[in-house]
Amino acid sequence: MDNGTTRSQRFGRRRFLGAAGAGTAALLAASAARSATPDPAITEVQDWARGLGDGVATRPYGMPSEFEKHVVRRDVEWLTASRQSSVSFTPLHSLDGVITPSGLCFERHHAGIADIDPAKHRLMINGLVDRQMVYTLDDLKRFPGRVGRIHFLECAANTGMEWRGAQLNGCQFTHGMVHNVAYTGIPLRMLLDHCGVRTNGRWLLAEGGDAAAMTRSLPLDKAMKDCLVAWAMNGEALRPEQGYPLRLVVPGWEGNMWVKWLRRIEVGDQPWHHREETSKYTDLLADGRARRFTWIMDAKSVVANPSPQAPLRHRGPNVLSGLAWSGRDAIRRVDVSLDGGRNWRTARIDEPVLSPSFVRFYAEFDWNGSELLVQSRAIDATGYVQPTKHELRRFRGTNSIYHNNGIQTWLVRPNGETENVEIS
Ligand code: MTE
Ligand code: CO
Repeated sequence: MDNGTTRSQRFGRRRFLGAAGAGTAALLAASAARSATPDPAITEVQDWARGLGDGVATRPYGMPSEFEKHVVRRDVEWLTASRQSSVSFTPLHSLDGVITPSGLCFERHHAGIADIDPAKHRLMINGLVDRQMVYTLDDLKRFPGRVGRIHFLECAANTGMEWRGAQLNGCQFTHGMVHNVAYTGIPLRMLLDHCGVRTNGRWLLAEGGDAAAMTRSLPLDKAMKDCLVAWAMNGEALRPEQGYPLRLVVPGWEGNMWVKWLRRIEVGDQPWHHREETSKYTDLLADGRARRFTWIMDAKSVVANPSPQAPLRHRGPNVLSGLAWSGRDAIRRVDVSLDGGRNWRTARIDEPVLSPSFVRFYAEFDWNGSELLVQSRAIDATGYVQPTKHELRRFRGTNSIYHNNGIQTWLVRPNGETENVEIS
């Protein structure tokens, strides 16, 4: 694995490479050439066809094929001092569509994974409410108004290592602190209405049941608008890594607010100014001031194929593929460039287009073996255009860790190997 490799290269803009071409014809030519020699994959009876395979339920919980065992979450060892307060990354380069498989969702824990017995788990709502309540999991599952929603969750620190230049070699590591999951749960508004928020209630404190007892202040307006208390992801119970048995879903807002192992929500009249909203999750600007409460994740995109862990293997027709998301509004358009942003073309956005959620984009292109500088830029329905890294630094300086949504560049070399680079 080439994870964690330090690379920092700057490239001038290259000439646009003639991309359009006889894609289908080239594909047909390739398969015709292949058929000239006998192909044992066709002429021989394969091992798996010589006898019976495993019967039903010999694999009671289905797992991916053994040939997919390289498709896993990975961490970057030098990044954190311990694995309990650390992060693993989603293998974006190996996935397709918009749903992140549960077992591949990146993890970010401050005190490791809490393995909670749901029978012993409670959700308390207290503070400025008419009725303080304690709910069991069963209470929540019987609560009227259950809904399902598909949302991305991006850690504010995603791409945080890239502020000072190209650093990590793979979109798993540069962009993999994000996942997109189908949740089932109760709108938080319904629970708050059940408790009766007092007229002076303005803020919530959400608290986790892990050893970190992680807490974040959340404005009441957001809670009433679209937050969920969720117990299911992708159709089954939340995974322990993702907060089993309960997590807060805060659509479009930074991942840190999506408190896992959720055990308490307190209603107050002002924010609490806890660790995660003062010393952490603030953005230090060049002039020494810090931005605070920068909750929304701005429009961002990345090309996953090709990328350093998924180099270009074939000359001729290829399909570029990637993901775009915005916490502000729906993704309206994604542009891609093969020449470092000199020429752009509109990518094909696939269904479903939900918001705030991943959208999957594709762009077909012919590769003649010349060097490419591959980029993508997302545009959302507010008209916001994903900035270049240079533009972003003009406003934000280089002291930040969080909220780096600058345009990513991959250099594809003539041999197909692909690297994380930055262009000036
Ligand atoms: N909630 C608790 N209780 N403890 C945590 O460590 N990490 C937060 C958030 N919720 C955390 C938590 C951070 S920083 C992020 S980015 C998301 O959970 C990560 O969610 P995931 O592990 O499902 O990817
Ligand atoms: Co985070």
